[in-house]
Amino acid sequence: MDQHQVPIYQILKQLNETNPTSFHVPGHKNGDVFPAYARSHFDAILKMDMTEIPGLDDLHAPTESIAEAEKLAAAFFRTEHTFFLVGGSTAGNLAMILATCNAGDEVIVQRNSHKSIMNGLELSGASPVFIAPEYDAIVGRYTSPSIDTLDKALQSHSDAKAVILTYPDYFGKTYNIKGMIELAHHHHIPVLVDEAHGVHFSLGGPFPAPALALGADVVVQSAHKMAPAMTMASYLHMKSTFVSKERIAHFLQMIQSSSPSYPLMASLDIARSFLATMTKETMTDILESVEQVREALEAPDNWDIHLSDDPLKLTLHVKQGFSAKEIANLFEKEGVYPELVTDDQILFIHGLAPFQKRNRLIKIVKSVCEQLKNNVNHATIEVTGLFTHPIQELALSYQAMNRLQTIQVPFHEGAGYIAAEAIIPYPPGIPLILKGETITAAHIEAIEYMLKQGVRIQQREDGIKVYRNKGEVNT
Ligand SMILES: Cc1ncc(COP(=O)(O)O)c(C=O)c1O
Repeated sequence: MDQHQVPIYQILKQLNETNPTSFHVPGHKNGDVFPAYARSHFDAILKMDMTEIPGLDDLHAPTESIAEAEKLAAAFFRTEHTFFLVGGSTAGNLAMILATCNAGDEVIVQRNSHKSIMNGLELSGASPVFIAPEYDAIVGRYTSPSIDTLDKALQSHSDAKAVILTYPDYFGKTYNIKGMIELAHHHHIPVLVDEAHGVHFSLGGPFPAPALALGADVVVQSAHKMAPAMTMASYLHMKSTFVSKERIAHFLQMIQSSSPSYPLMASLDIARSFLATMTKETMTDILESVEQVREALEAPDNWDIHLSDDPLKLTLHVKQGFSAKEIANLFEKEGVYPELVTDDQILFIHGLAPFQKRNRLIKIVKSVCEQLKNNVNHATIEVTGLFTHPIQELALSYQAMNRLQTIQVPFHEGAGYIAAEAIIPYPPGIPLILKGETITAAHIEAIEYMLKQGVRIQQREDGIKVYRNKGEVNT
């Protein structure tokens, strides 16, 4: 297939050139009805923001340009079918879980998954069996579960309806997912992969192999995170004898808007073509640029730079005595915005094109380091001991949780209660405490430490909702 083709963009462009008259939604009427003060920024995109008029196809029953664009994507990503998503990987994660798990079904889930996975589990009413990630002292983070943990979980829960994994992690770290997929398939269990951060892995080396190539059944990718697609534009790919395409389509049309955005869909089409037609020379230029950015970021007195399996991810590990949040604030004051800040790490993501502002970055790094000379000493601790049980089920089923009363307690009184809400530092959006999990002293210590370090938590910062009675048993 000719990967230079961009059928959705093409049809929007053609239609636009006919100067159409709109007596239909959306209310901006191809940009004619729009406040003047904002028009200059929105104008071009509003002309593309059309609806399902003849010729424009329908995301939920595609037969024309959207069907063609999805086929082109399926060919590039080497999958049987690709669904375009306009609600982010969030929509894809919800749909893949709802399509495979019914209420009460056991499902084996990586504990450090994004909240959209946890929300999918709750919506389905499934019974999750969590497999804990290992703490990797080299990168100073919890990364992925071991294959041994998955093996044990599969042996004790061989009726599980799916295994749900995240690959790579936010920092671009991968693991032996192939071995895990083979293990799950040996038990005839499908593997669903949240590959939100790996859409560019299909470019081939030096990027790691994509989960689809390693045998995954369903893979969800945020095209908008690492490829040049608009925010929320994402893909759901499937290649499976276990999972029904019809069920995925059914849940996607329930979850996603009945008025999906054409600019978003066109950007998915363009992002796929961009990836598929990238030349070796461009790739070499990008990798050289990553190396230059790495050099520009160097400040060995203040931080070390860790490279990842994904060469586009550069993580600053701040030295003892510095606060990552404070350093990130200094960068932000200079107009440089990293992707993610934890208590002691700052993640920078390089784009899929050579970086153009290297000299400015060098100056800014120098200025940040100057300002850090008057730094007050900060104590940092390693946040470990969070996931003490390699295999863990919730203390309460989702059905039981729906029937119980909740109260709010201050964090320092939380240990021993069952959480009635997840506590989610954002980003990365991975729950520190799960809804339905018994809160431990280690959880509370980690939350209080993170709040002190300025890590943003999505809930209130003064306490947690819990079920009224401590130590409810599994129902
Ligand atoms: C691992 C992971 N999965 C899923 C998501 C949700 O993706 P989206 O923002 O495309 O809905 C995110 C968002 O940060 C994520 O990090």
